[in-house]
Amino acid sequence: MEKIIILGYMGAGKSTIAQHLAQELQLSYYDLDHEIEKQQQQKIAAIFATKGEVYFRKIEHQVLQQLLQQKERAIISLGGGTPCYANNHLLLQQEGVQSFYLKASIQTLTQRLEKEKEHRPLLQTNTEDTLETFIAKHLFDRSYFYYQAKHIVVVDDKSVAQLVHEITAILVN
Ligand code: S3P
Repeated sequence: MEKIIILGYMGAGKSTIAQHLAQELQLSYYDLDHEIEKQQQQKIAAIFATKGEVYFRKIEHQVLQQLLQQKERAIISLGGGTPCYANNHLLLQQEGVQSFYLKASIQTLTQRLEKEKEHRPLLQTNTEDTLETFIAKHLFDRSYFYYQAKHIVVVDDKSVAQLVHEITAILVN
């Protein structure tokens, strides 16, 4: 059954948009980070701190596979790095998967992440660059994977309602 995947950099609004979209379309909604936390009985930041990123990426891949194998039609929001590791981008090219890249500018991401960088393990390891430079470099590395999404939706200066409307219009066409 069809899976609608919402992907993009940290702070792009993946969980918020996916949640509203699920409400609008009356579909089940899964947040990959949340599913990982449930299965591991640990917060993402604690997994990074105690077991490291390589372990996290392995579990992230497994949980994504499990969610994609479920029978129901559902909306899944990924973590910012999900499409960029363990060949997950190939899993997203399977038949029955509709993927949306929520594309936010470096400025939008910097503004949003400035307020919450303490909660993001990957932003805490960055000591040399300013947040904006770090995001610019990181986004450059990841864009190759993000652009493999079936649909690209620019999020800057748009409301949640506008974005949900935009995505719904693509899905019904
Ligand atoms: C990550 C993003 C996080 C979470 C983990 C790693 C990343 O998810 O999966 O901290 O590599 O960009 P959000 O994008 O939901 O913050």
